[in-house]
Amino acid sequence: MNITIVGTGYVGLVTGTTLAELGNSVYCVDIDEKKVEGMKNGIVPIYEPNLEEMFLRNIQAERLFFTTDLKKALDKSEVVYLALPTPPGEDGSADLSYVLRVAHDIGEMMTDYKVIVNKSTVPVGTADRVREVIASKTDIPFDVVSNPEFLREGFAVEDSMNPSRVVVGASSEKAKNIMATIYQPFTNTGIPIIFMDEKSSELTKYAANSFLAVKITFMNEIANYCEKVGADVDKVRLGMGSDDRIGHRFLFPGIGYGGSCFPKDVKALINSGKQDDFEFQILKATENVNSHQKVILVSEIENYFGGSIEGKTIAIWGLAFKANTDDIREASSLDNIRLLLEKGARIVAYDAVAENNVRKILGDKIQYAKSMYEALDGADALLIATEWSEFKNPNFELMAKRMNSKTIFDGRNMYPLDIPAQNGFYYKSIGRKT
Ligand code: UGA
Repeated sequence: MNITIVGTGYVGLVTGTTLAELGNSVYCVDIDEKKVEGMKNGIVPIYEPNLEEMFLRNIQAERLFFTTDLKKALDKSEVVYLALPTPPGEDGSADLSYVLRVAHDIGEMMTDYKVIVNKSTVPVGTADRVREVIASKTDIPFDVVSNPEFLREGFAVEDSMNPSRVVVGASSEKAKNIMATIYQPFTNTGIPIIFMDEKSSELTKYAANSFLAVKITFMNEIANYCEKVGADVDKVRLGMGSDDRIGHRFLFPGIGYGGSCFPKDVKALINSGKQDDFEFQILKATENVNSHQKVILVSEIENYFGGSIEGKTIAIWGLAFKANTDDIREASSLDNIRLLLEKGARIVAYDAVAENNVRKILGDKIQYAKSMYEALDGADALLIATEWSEFKNPNFELMAKRMNSKTIFDGRNMYPLDIPAQNGFYYKSIGRKT
């Protein structure tokens, strides 16, 4: 099948590459000329493990193309995926202007039947709005379907080639059949495709992300309570997760959830509710708990130093919002750095992948180290903000030699409690004994 993808951000690029890998001819459209030129020359504009190989393979096989010319791509394709940004507006509601502008252009440019597939995370009712905009520009028949994306950053290739399910919101039989054909390689291997109406599909995406945000936040509250009563969250987590109605995944406590999806989607769902005179009480509580959780270790650091961290040097390991990505959107590291700076601390940070993105925001307000050990030189405390693999098994002796004081505040529960202790460290993690 010939497919156009509009928008080559994270979702668009991964979706386009996956659809090419499944054997389709895919035309990726973006307004950013420099980016398009780069992609034509084999440059993947995002950091994502294993993506480059699949990307280059499909360019080589002449199944993956890049252009700034929407009209040219449309003329070649029967199916058009929209993978456009839906950033939060000031009140937290999703801004649909990119999606609706492209819908308008498609309406003006199309010359034959198209299926417009919404991949972006969009509020309930967006398929209807896209349909109205296109219909106001053309009499040619078309369908609009919702097909939300569930992939995780850092696992995009794995998740997109082996999804837990494909959700398609479509009311026309013709569009349903086309979507079933596109995803046949998945259904052939037993991956379910779940058809529903457009609104239910749009809400499924928000409900799934919000549920996971609630799950993590619930566990963070349990962890905080563990500390109060002297229980160990690792044990509680195992005990709970073994009930397969609960499951082990997304039960890891830490310094809050971040990234480009959970915070945005929780906010957007609260906001959609408000517009429909509906209050998502559980999501409001989740937001509150999470914003507190993100910086929960700062007061611990302050207490440790007798109430003031003025002039103290704090090393930070990890800046990305989670491991295996260079994404720093809503990263807990940033909230911690801002608060620590406000309180007069000096920061030396290390992140091999995300440093450049942080430099763009914080510039020389903090220092950057070239290695995890260099960050520790003369540090009064270490704060671990991202669970990168390279931090999993450090040389504690070397750490002790380089630090001013043997103190670790671990926001990602990286080590068994006895290991740092055996090396003489004060070790504070989340929901476990100190
Ligand atoms: C999330 C969802 O997991 C994807 O299914 C969804 O497609 C995506 O959003 C999206 O809407 O595009 P992602 O933002 O890449 O994916 O990140 P996650 O792996 O879900 O992690 C989100 C945050 O939760 C991170 O800050 C992570 O550190 C935190 N987390 C995760 C925990 O604190 N504890 C856990 O047990 C799991």
